[in-house]
Amino acid sequence: MHRDSLSGTTREHEMDQETEPEMDSRFSPSLIRAVANTAMGRQNVLPFWFGESDQSTPSFIREAAIASLRDGETFYSENLGRPYLRQAISAYLTDLHHLPIGTGRIAVTASGVSALMLTSQLLVAPGDRVVTVTPLWPNAVEIPKVMSGRVTCVSLEVQHGRWTLPLEKLLDALTPGTRMLVLNSPNNPTGWTIRRAEQAAILEHCRRHGIWIIADDVYERLVYADGMKTAPSFLTLAEPGERLIVINSFSKAWSMTGWRLGWMVVPPAIQDDLASLLEYNNSCVSEFIQRAGVTALQQGEPYVGQLRAQLANTKEKLFTALSPLPGLQVPEADGAMYLFLRVAGEEDSVRLAKRLIEEVGLGLAPGRAFGPEGEGWLRWCYAADSKKIESGIERLAHFLSK
Ligand SMILES: Cc1ncc(COP(=O)(O)O)c(C=O)c1O
Repeated sequence: MHRDSLSGTTREHEMDQETEPEMDSRFSPSLIRAVANTAMGRQNVLPFWFGESDQSTPSFIREAAIASLRDGETFYSENLGRPYLRQAISAYLTDLHHLPIGTGRIAVTASGVSALMLTSQLLVAPGDRVVTVTPLWPNAVEIPKVMSGRVTCVSLEVQHGRWTLPLEKLLDALTPGTRMLVLNSPNNPTGWTIRRAEQAAILEHCRRHGIWIIADDVYERLVYADGMKTAPSFLTLAEPGERLIVINSFSKAWSMTGWRLGWMVVPPAIQDDLASLLEYNNSCVSEFIQRAGVTALQQGEPYVGQLRAQLANTKEKLFTALSPLPGLQVPEADGAMYLFLRVAGEEDSVRLAKRLIEEVGLGLAPGRAFGPEGEGWLRWCYAADSKKIESGIERLAHFLSK
């Protein structure tokens, strides 16, 4: 499956493991879970550890699923998704990015995670070199390792109080023979958001070396610069047939984490292979969930706008309250739903996250969960009620004052 029609027949990059000691192909359990499991459900703990809103999915979306079940839509459906949902995704993306993105490039998946796994199943063979930009949501780093890919990480850097991409370092890491780059922007956990000029340089480089770009755009609607409706997308720069796969999800912008619904935009030439892979994964997504997805796309724009405004406001409040606290480093974030912060002198983020739970009832995710580059940092998901956020701020201030 991984000898795809866009890559030529062979790849000449069997890497020598001994010369690439930084590469790692063993996958690890999630440290976010390891910390959260110690205190999930405890009344005295405020949980900001997971990447999801504390609000249920809006009722107009839930009603669409209920109506579908009431109508008896309980059957298997197409591997690539119901035609009406693929059509709706095509119309939504075409409108959002101001260029046609046809249904011949779209597949519906049972979540963003599943889309990433399918991508690795399609593209990664044992020993393949995969490059990611970290700190990064652990699944995006671990999933290629399930296919025995070997992952190299290029770390974002904090410059002038913002997370910044060291572009030259990334291009250097994208050596000829690299199989794919996995790039998530806006980024979980830092909120870093790529610039269009950086995308253009990366695309140019990857084109030259035949490297696939896997763009994880699940937070593209959660950007906070005035008047912006979406983050920059590789979709607007690449030709439809190029080596680009875009991953997206209903989880974040429509508050649908528990539904497990996402999509992929792929070059038309691999759509048939993808349909076969979908058959052997979960065959298709439940129809009532696809009905909810259509409703989200077709009627959800006011909701997305309102969510973005609310998150922008909460982020500003949290950032303003935390920045002056002594011993705390809080880089600005342009998107997603997280602040990634550091307590001076604390090197072990798992230990620190557990202490915050035990001593002040504050549940944050340990930075080490997002790669060794995240060690010493903590992630705070601010998609939460502002009263809870205020209590969280008080608890952290109390902890730091001790
Ligand atoms: C960067 C990133 N990509 C993809 C996902 C997957 O979302 P889901 O599997 O809920 O669709 C997440 C979820 O947290 C994420 O943070």
